[in-house]
Amino acid sequence: MDMSVTLPSGHAMPLVGLGTWKLKADEVAGAIGAAVDAGYRHFDCALIYGNEKEVGVALREAMQRLGLKREDVFITTKVWNTFHAKEDVAECFNRSLTDLQLDYIDLYIMHWPLGFQNLGPTVMFPRTETGDIVYSDVHYLETWSAMEDLVKTGKCKSLGLSNFNSKQLDDVLQHSTVPPSVLQVESHPFLPQVELLNFCRERSVVVSAYSPLGCGDRAWKLSGEPSIFDDPGLLKIAQRLRKSIAQVAIRYQVQRGIPVIPKSATPSHIQENINVFDFELSEDDMALLSSLPRRRILVPPKKDKDNKPMVDSDGLVIPRDGSHPYYPFHEPF
Ligand SMILES: NC(=O)c1ccc[n+]([C@@H]2O[C@H](COP(=O)([O-])OP(=O)(O)OC[C@H]3O[C@@H](n4cnc5c(N)ncnc54)[C@H](OP(=O)(O)O)[C@@H]3O)[C@@H](O)[C@H]2O)c1
Ligand SMILES: *[C@@H]1O[C@H](CO)[C@@H](O)[C@H](O)[C@H]1NC(C)=O
Repeated sequence: MDMSVTLPSGHAMPLVGLGTWKLKADEVAGAIGAAVDAGYRHFDCALIYGNEKEVGVALREAMQRLGLKREDVFITTKVWNTFHAKEDVAECFNRSLTDLQLDYIDLYIMHWPLGFQNLGPTVMFPRTETGDIVYSDVHYLETWSAMEDLVKTGKCKSLGLSNFNSKQLDDVLQHSTVPPSVLQVESHPFLPQVELLNFCRERSVVVSAYSPLGCGDRAWKLSGEPSIFDDPGLLKIAQRLRKSIAQVAIRYQVQRGIPVIPKSATPSHIQENINVFDFELSEDDMALLSSLPRRRILVPPKKDKDNKPMVDSDGLVIPRDGSHPYYPFHEPF
């Protein structure tokens, strides 16, 4: 089976990449080194992950060690919400380019359809005195048009969206000169995204799966919340195939042609997660993995199960304000 997919832009995107969100500064070199040794050639980054300088150093070192050329690796990064105004997009892009020590980006993604107010380059989460995020009303089409300009400079090969719903994706498709190659969304066996996948296939947009393992380490995890690692259906498939639950969840995406970006700081997990090209899930396995009870994990409800407001211990708040006009998750998909 192919280990990459061809994007509408004509460029190849490896099916398994390493997610870098939540890799701590002192974990980055070990994770990237282990990943490159295990055969990873695709890295999913973002300005907001706060570790692009470390990723840049680690990538340069690992590529030198293995004699890899720039064109041997595929690097994704994302424009953050505070940089949505057309005059700010290039600044955000340049910062990632500099921090990652690259002269071009393979895939540049708009992280969210919602913009935040820009209070200067270091304020990623502008807040009111009571702690609410201050949104901007910059339209995502304005941001997209500035991203198209980056492609024209040759410093960016392909463009993508993240956390957009089907209607917003269509809006961009209808108003773009460079169409989106990729839509990166949360997907795992509890959120298979079958409708969105079909919608994107009809429009030749490649879906990419984030949090493919259900984002095991997020700060706001509620106790008693289901995990794919405890799911009896997944466990049965994994035992039959003598693979791990993580490998089954990753293979599920790869077998649907979905590039997938599991995060890990643990070398044994990193190796395990790309070792998914020597087995196949049956049609029944695939059907079962698409039929488990659904739940979105990254953007949980604002109240916990006792109806108490939830607090993020690491201060990283994902846009949850359903009142914003570009909030993506009111649509069925
Ligand atoms: N566009 C967006 O808005 C968006 C949102 C979320 C994520 N993402 C991207 O998607 C990437 C992945 O998503 P994620 O970080 O949310 O979570 P994830 O990849 O679903 O899960 C990561 C968790 O699973 C654990 N893990 C990894 N491999 C494992 C294995 N083989 N066995 C057992 N546990 C394993 C990791 O722990 P260890 O580190 O200890 O292995 C970590 O706790 C991110 O890093 C980021 O690049 C994008
Ligand atoms: C970004 O970098 C390019 C090329 O180095 C430069 O021409 C452009 O002015 C920079 N833009 C901003 C906003 O810094």
